[in-house]
This record gives sequence, structure tokens and C-alpha cells, in this order.
Amino acid sequence: MVDVILGLQWGDEGKGKIVDYFAPQYDIIARFQGGPNAGHTLYIGDKKIVLHQIPSGIFHQNTINIIGNGVVLDPVTLKRECEVVSSFGIDVKKNLFISQRANLIIPTHRALDKASELQKGESKIGSTLKGIGPSYMDKTGRNALRVGDIMSKSFVTQYIKLRLKHQKLLDNFHFIDDISEWEEEFFEAIEFLRTLNIVNGEYFINEKISNGKKVLAEGAQGSMLDIDFGTFPYVTSSNTISAGVCTGLGVAPQKINEVLGVTKAYCTRVGGGPFPTELNDETGETLRKIGNEFGATTGRPRRCGWIDLVALKYTVMLNGVTKVIMTKADVLDSFKDLNVCTSYNINGTETDRVPFQLMNSEIVPDYKHFDGWSCDSTNIKNGKNLPEKMQHYVEFINQYIGAPVSYISNGPQREQIIKI
Ligand code: GDP
Ligand code: IMO
Ligand code: MG
Repeated sequence: MVDVILGLQWGDEGKGKIVDYFAPQYDIIARFQGGPNAGHTLYIGDKKIVLHQIPSGIFHQNTINIIGNGVVLDPVTLKRECEVVSSFGIDVKKNLFISQRANLIIPTHRALDKASELQKGESKIGSTLKGIGPSYMDKTGRNALRVGDIMSKSFVTQYIKLRLKHQKLLDNFHFIDDISEWEEEFFEAIEFLRTLNIVNGEYFINEKISNGKKVLAEGAQGSMLDIDFGTFPYVTSSNTISAGVCTGLGVAPQKINEVLGVTKAYCTRVGGGPFPTELNDETGETLRKIGNEFGATTGRPRRCGWIDLVALKYTVMLNGVTKVIMTKADVLDSFKDLNVCTSYNINGTETDRVPFQLMNSEIVPDYKHFDGWSCDSTNIKNGKNLPEKMQHYVEFINQYIGAPVSYISNGPQREQIIKI
């Protein structure tokens, strides 16, 4: 069977830490969508590692990690990351597998991402500039190069053909940056990629499942960044929700078992787009400071706000979440007053549903107030010892979203997690 761990907000919920925590219970950890726009932070002892392309189970010697067909793969990022992982004594040639159907990000995808954002000006998406949008466009436009293609003798010819296509688009954008250095490192990374385990991902994973192996699918980004259901157009270019597991790995829907949704105890977003509960005040600043809310991929300050239960209930529904994991509860330790958003007031009308377009509406969030627990929660190990006020906060959320918060993460370290 396949269990899933994915983000329920706008990304950066702490998926990396949670996947790393659960990894020993699984045989295979599989990324099913997204690319190096992801930044998943793990702590191995006191060492901090941020993974962009490699699944977060890679630090467990007995776990196979696979990059699925739904992923867009930047070989340059992958090579760099493999070097870091290898320095921890992990043999990527043994533990890492890559689907031949994963799509390649080539240097001109990154250039196109940058050119497109520049052209959008004020209304830019605030993308990570990793080439995600343009590479998924080449997938749906049926132009893309895929990992399996690097084994073909005509790979360079195919590359040049695609690059020329991109050049025409870049000329339209009046984009003149020199990307020859990017190309040099790209081809070096392709050489490296050829030495890794490139497999037929869908057969690989289904055979393992048939042999009784346990698979954990690791989501990237968050459900509110989903291309179909997120705050379009301020979203990423893939299906980040649980449905994406089937298309992104080649597993059938009935193989999906638990869906573990990760949410922060508050909310953040990085990049442009609507964020109803955003706090552009001192409280937001305090959340950013205590939560160290700066992007793991781009270093940009994350926008911070209260937890949004309207959006959370929506993403619990979309994903079929069976259990919720609440991270960064400790960040709220020193807050005297907490708020949770229970409905939106849109142009005078009250609703508990996410509207079609969050962008053009005047949304005023309605809040329920909670007293903070005002104590240090970072050393709690047992759910019975949670401060009463934290229990109250969590119970309300359980009731509202209709799914149980089963784990609370109370610090960035592996062992800082409490089972409820
Ligand atoms: P991801 O993209 O969902 O994997 O999340 P990121 O790694 O981008 O961001 C989560 C950040 O919060 C990282 O810096 C983690 O080390 C940190 N983190 C994760 N869980 C907790 C937690 O429970 N408490 C605190 N204080 N930090 C956490
Ligand atoms: P993880 O996996 C947070 C955001 C970008 C931008 C929008 C589109 O670490 O949670 P893209 O580069 O995908 O075209 O950017 O999506 N974004 C993320 N925000 N966490 C992420 O990944 C993100 N990946 C993309 O900031 O607003
Ligand atoms: Mg992240």
C-alpha cells in the first residue's frame, strides 16, 4: 500500500522533517510532483540539510528513494544534492532511483521562468525561478525531454531542437542573459545522471507494492498551491494534492491508504497571491522571527498569519486526509492571544468555503479567539502532558476540519514530535 505525506497550506509546513521521521516505517519514499522549487529541511543530529530534489528518506540506509515521473528534474541541483548526501556516507547509487519518465528542466526553462516573471511586473507569481512553470508547459505541450532520453544517441540533437524553440520565446521576451555557463554545468550533470539508477518507475513501484513493500509518497509545495485547486494563478504548476500521487508515480487509486496532511499551527506563504489571514503587523513579524520563516529554497522572508480553517477544511476534503500532523506548535508558545480563522466575510457575505477567485474579492477573515498556553512546549514527549490550552486549540481544529490532529511537532529536531 501507499501512504502519503503532503502539505495542506501554501508549502513549507515541515513535510521534510515529518517524512524523515516516518521513513523508517517504510521501504520506499517517493516524490511524485514538483521539482527544485521544493526546499525540505531535515536535521541529522545538529546538521541542517535542505533537500530540493531527493526524497526526504535518503538518510535512512535501508530505505529506497525514488523520484517519480511526475517530478520535473534539474540534473544540476540533483548532482549537487547527491554530493551533499554522499558526504554523509549514503550511497546514492544504491538508495536512489529515478523514473525515466520524469521531465528534465533544461537551462532555458530557468531563463524562461525569469523572463516570464520580469514581463509580469507587479503581478508576477513570485516563482522560485527554478524553471518549474516552463518545464511543465513543455510536458503538457508535448515538447519535453525526459530522463530516459539521456540514454539516446540523439539526446544532444533533441536538446538543441528544444533550446532553439525556447530561444524564439526568449527573443520575444527580449531576454539577453548569457546562459552558456548554465549549459556547461547542465551537460556535466547529465553525465552524472547517466551513472545513477534510471528505472521504469511505474513497474518498479508496482512490483514492490505487489511484494508487500510499504511506500510513502512525499508531496512538495502545498495543497493551496495546487494547479487546479489552489489560489490560481498564484500557484505552482503541478497537482500537489493526493490525486497527484497516482499520476506522479503510476499507482492506482485503490493502492492509496493513509493520507497524512501537514499543517503549521499558524500559516505562512512565500511569493505572491492571496493570503486572507496574513498579518502585516508586529504579530506577523514576531511569527516570522520566532518561526524563522525564511524560504528554504530562495531565502525570501515568508509572509505569516493565523491558521486558516476555511482553507484547511477545503484541503482536508480535496486530499481525503485521514490524519493531520500539526507542526511548529512551539512557535506559538509565547503568544498570549491566538486567533483561528473560521469564516470569510466576502463583500459583506459570510462563507466557510474557499471561493473561485480569492484574488479580486475583499476578504475579511472572521476569527475565533484562543488564550495562548504561554509555556515552553519543546520538551514535551507525551500527548498527556500537553498544556490544556494547547489541547483546547487542537480539539477545536479537529472538530472544525473533521480530521484528527494525530501528531504535534514541537521543534525542528527528529525526536521533537508528540503522538496524540
Ligand atoms: P517543507 O518544505 O514542508 O519541508 O518545510 P521547510 O523545510 O521549507 O520549512 C519548515 C521549517 O520549519 C524548517 O526550517 C524546519 O526545520 C522547521 N520545522 C519543522 N518542524 C518544526 C517544528 O515543529 N518546530 C519548529 N520550531 N520548527 C520546525
Ligand atoms: P516546499 O515543497 C513554498 C511557491 C513560490 C511561488 C509559487 C510558484 O518547500 O513546500 P514555482 O517556482 O513553483 O513556479 O513558484 O509557488 N512555491 C513554494 N512555496 N514552498 C514550496 O515548496 C514552494 N514551491 C513553490 O514561492 O509563490
Ligand atoms: Mg519548503
